[in-house]
Amino acid sequence: MDARRSGLYGRVIGPRLLDVACGCSVISSQRSRVVPLAEGVVLEVGIGSGANLPFYDKVKVERIIGVDPGGAKLRREDSGIPVELIDAGGESIPLGDAMADTAVLTYTLCSVGDPGATLAEIRRVLRPGGTLLVCEHGLARDVGGRRWQQRLKAGWSKLALGCQLDRDPQALLLNAGFKFKELEISIAGKLPAFVGTHYVGAARVSDV
Ligand SMILES: C[S@@+](CC[C@H](N)C(=O)[O-])C[C@H]1O[C@@H](n2cnc3c(N)ncnc32)[C@H](O)[C@@H]1O
Repeated sequence: MDARRSGLYGRVIGPRLLDVACGCSVISSQRSRVVPLAEGVVLEVGIGSGANLPFYDKVKVERIIGVDPGGAKLRREDSGIPVELIDAGGESIPLGDAMADTAVLTYTLCSVGDPGATLAEIRRVLRPGGTLLVCEHGLARDVGGRRWQQRLKAGWSKLALGCQLDRDPQALLLNAGFKFKELEISIAGKLPAFVGTHYVGAARVSDV
């Protein structure tokens, strides 16, 4: 078992706290900018409690396959879209090649054990020309924010079940062979700068 998910905090309290934090209005408004762009067969890695479900467009989305090693339990209302849950890590997704039209990563790249392996798997499962939608927080772009991230990262990681504050989603995606169609890097709303540097956009597999 993943050490982060043991004990009362790892199994119950931590996931519940993260769920509440990830449902706050600032974060919901960030999700609402990308999730409605999903279409066809959607692979959502780190689906958690299904915080994105209310934001999918049921006219455009055929079905959602949610991958999460935490034994995801959806708490959100029925979105009207079929959802299949797979208990697995993003590093090894038990799905065939090129079977998804869209992949969705929201507030998950910071928490996966191996972001490079996870992005390689997403790349494999996404069909050529498919889109990866991202809404992540990560490396602060200002010196002050980065200093706070360095100070807080070890404690934050324990509190937030492995979340690494200073991962750089832009660099990770580029290294994994994705090319951004759009990417906005900004401080989101009133969240503290150490956590609120957001990377929101859409990427495709690069041809080169
Ligand atoms: C902060 S929560 C975000 C949940 C959801 N994506 C959202 O937007 O609210 C991080 C999620 O990543 C999941 N996770 C952790 N390690 C993972 C891995 N190796 N592969 C896939 N998901 C993982 C956790 O179980 C959790 O559901």
